[in-house]
Amino acid sequence: MTKISVSESLARRQSIREYIQQDVQPELVMDILETAGKSPSGGNLQPWRVHALSGEVKNTLFQKTIAQAMNNPTGVDPDIPIYPSGLAEPWRSRRADCGEVMYRALEIKRDNKMGRMQQGARNLSFFDAPVGLIFTLDRSFCESQMIDLGLYVQSVMLVADEKGLATCPQASWSMWAGIVRDVLGLASNEMVMLGMALGYADPDAPVNQLNQPRVDVTEFTQLHGF
Ligand SMILES: Cc1cc2nc3c(=O)[nH]c(=O)nc-3n(C[C@H](O)[C@H](O)[C@H](O)COP(=O)(O)O)c2cc1C
Repeated sequence: MTKISVSESLARRQSIREYIQQDVQPELVMDILETAGKSPSGGNLQPWRVHALSGEVKNTLFQKTIAQAMNNPTGVDPDIPIYPSGLAEPWRSRRADCGEVMYRALEIKRDNKMGRMQQGARNLSFFDAPVGLIFTLDRSFCESQMIDLGLYVQSVMLVADEKGLATCPQASWSMWAGIVRDVLGLASNEMVMLGMALGYADPDAPVNQLNQPRVDVTEFTQLHGF
């Protein structure tokens, strides 16, 4: 594989929501997670924990969560909320636009509530990726360790991309913390923060061509004292 710069890597990575059915060997999963472990963390705590799921365990998690999805649209024993209640502007509109970009690519119209729900439920099978990752943090940590986890997660995505794999980060897994904890036998002090699909992208799937836009740097940056 040709080497690319960090900037090119950042530009190339996208959230991938359709995968081809090609297994990912456990050695490769471990390699990606180990390489990403070079991420910095405050006090070098390296607070992240990762559970990599495949085969029967991943399927059991899917069966148990999908069985609850209809009756429990807000999940089972979530550890953290995905968004604050009453998300303000401009973030509220950005979130809505993000969904519209995806549904347009999938040709799922606004009034097709069932279609949109079914697409949302695809999170529960990790979009049929061969590997699902669950990231946890110890309940004793504070907000700073969440920053560390975010840095580690971005590293995982970029290293996976370098090795020809694709990912989709999934905050939606935090909704199902109670079931994840049960299926994986996690201790109650392990907080389910995020999930991630990992596998080989289906390059032709329309949902994999979203190119979600970004705001201009001047919208989120202020220069002081230059
Ligand atoms: C922390 C985090 C949580 C996310 N959760 C989900 C999710 O639950 N389901 C999903 O389909 N996409 C999820 N995404 C993907 C975002 O929608 C995506 O990153 C954003 O629209 C930008 O698109 P891009 O990743 O293709 O550049 C998440 C992304 C991040 C960083």
